[in-house]
Amino acid sequence: MLRFFPKFLQRFKGKKQPPAREEDTGGPSREPEARIEEPTRPLSNAQGEHTQAADNRVIAIALYPLHTTNRFILNFEKGDELIIEDDSDPDWYMACHLNEERRGFVPKSYLNLDRFGGEERWFFGNTNRADAERLLLQPENEPGSFLVRHSHAQGSYALSIKDIDPKTNEILIRHYKIRTLDRGGFFISPRNQFDTLKDLVEYYSNTDALCRILEQPCLRPHPAILDPLPNSRDEYEVPFESLEFFQTLGKGNFGEVFYGLWNGTVEVAIKRLISNGVQTDEFRREVAVMKAICHPKIVRLYAICTEREPFCIVMEYMCNGNLQHYLKTDLGKRLQLPSLVRICSQIADGMMYLEANNMIHRDLAARNILVGDGGIVKLADFGLARIVDEAIYVASGGKLPIRWAAPEAYTTGEFTIKSDVWSFGIALYEIFTHGGSPYSGMTNSQVSQLVTKQDYRMPKPSDPDCIDAVYEIMTMCWKKDPKDRPTFEFLYHFFTDFPVTSEASYREAE
Ligand SMILES: Nc1ncnc2c1ncn2[C@@H]1O[C@H](COP(=O)(O)OP(=O)(O)OP(=O)(O)O)[C@@H](O)[C@H]1O
Ligand SMILES: [Mg+2]
Repeated sequence: MLRFFPKFLQRFKGKKQPPAREEDTGGPSREPEARIEEPTRPLSNAQGEHTQAADNRVIAIALYPLHTTNRFILNFEKGDELIIEDDSDPDWYMACHLNEERRGFVPKSYLNLDRFGGEERWFFGNTNRADAERLLLQPENEPGSFLVRHSHAQGSYALSIKDIDPKTNEILIRHYKIRTLDRGGFFISPRNQFDTLKDLVEYYSNTDALCRILEQPCLRPHPAILDPLPNSRDEYEVPFESLEFFQTLGKGNFGEVFYGLWNGTVEVAIKRLISNGVQTDEFRREVAVMKAICHPKIVRLYAICTEREPFCIVMEYMCNGNLQHYLKTDLGKRLQLPSLVRICSQIADGMMYLEANNMIHRDLAARNILVGDGGIVKLADFGLARIVDEAIYVASGGKLPIRWAAPEAYTTGEFTIKSDVWSFGIALYEIFTHGGSPYSGMTNSQVSQLVTKQDYRMPKPSDPDCIDAVYEIMTMCWKKDPKDRPTFEFLYHFFTDFPVTSEASYREAE
């Protein structure tokens, strides 16, 4: 369900129109921010657990500066104090600047409010184990950095700490289960019980009872403004003029992709589709489905532009390009088993979401997995293969992705979530060969012949990171009968709980 802020939009609507734009004045097109024309109201909608000022207002502190030219977005500096007026939207707060009486939308990721209060920079909510490791392993986090997150089990928490193994000097992430008491309260070791998580963190920040003293909260990656504003969520269709095209990012089976700006504010990737064969109505219907998908491991589709051909798809920009290419860069080549496993866990996370929602990807491959900041990876091009007539594939050079497609998909045209599982197995092969080509040295027709008629499967890659357990998973994904292939839920848990170190999953306090 898409949610809006009707009452806040009403405030904007009721106001004087912003000053004339560039074409009228000859001045710059920077739009002014919305200004308050009424006194700040007491807060009604924000949750009571947030930092409460004496007059009941919820005040948050900006973690990062925000400067945009969009008049609906509130600009501020790092450390500025903002009053939260509405937090009902999943991605944006409506907030008012405490000192300067300006009001506007603020991306939630720019403020640190969670249900434990604004000061708790160490609380990372629903971050899973693999993501906690990915974040803590960023080089800017020193040993002793830590975070607290929800754990698998309902209502329980985990503490993750960056540590150094004294014997090997290896960087490790240690995880401790935080247990809860029936009467309320938390503990890692039953000997030391605390009323709040804050008390627990304070205690272990001063007492050397875990692998090391808690030093500083894990840093959060500087967020991009990813999400369309609540008041533009419904705009599937955007005018061509709202898009600015900069350099080309690449070219694929469906068209060319550009780096650009949308509305002069949001960094985006714009895919210009090969024009013939795309039915406008069907395209719009499919895009509506894709646009409604909001998952941290799936590239966001913001909008389309179909007012002229070639049609454009506007999507979230991922600054490190596609995974296949990334794995071949100097940085990618250095990624070892634990990092590769974290990549797989994120892909399986996105695919598990599609599986749970009865959707299929149809074009899962390392080239359609994109890499952002801080080691994050997301699925791209989900659903596109269905929108664009398959004839285009053939017309554009016979590029039906035989090497990634399950045999039943190219023999009977039957694409299912289980054919996606097959493709996931091929993507695993690409990952554990650091961007190697599947069935290297064979032609497409040799591949299809060998796989369908002789049950040929690729041998275990010689890359030392491709351990037996991983190859076993690949071969499970390539089972002839789709029913025998694992679910993405299984694959997600396999990679998320993968014992990449000799450590037990969770440690006990000493
Ligand atoms: N959202 C994005 N952010 C950043 N780069 C992108 C984005 N989408 C695509 N790219 C880049 O553009 C390239 C071309 O993408 P495109 O999807 O058109 O082709 P492809 O992924 O190589 O093949 P396919 O046709 O199977 O999708 C990608 O390989 C990637 O490097
Ligand atoms: Mg692609």
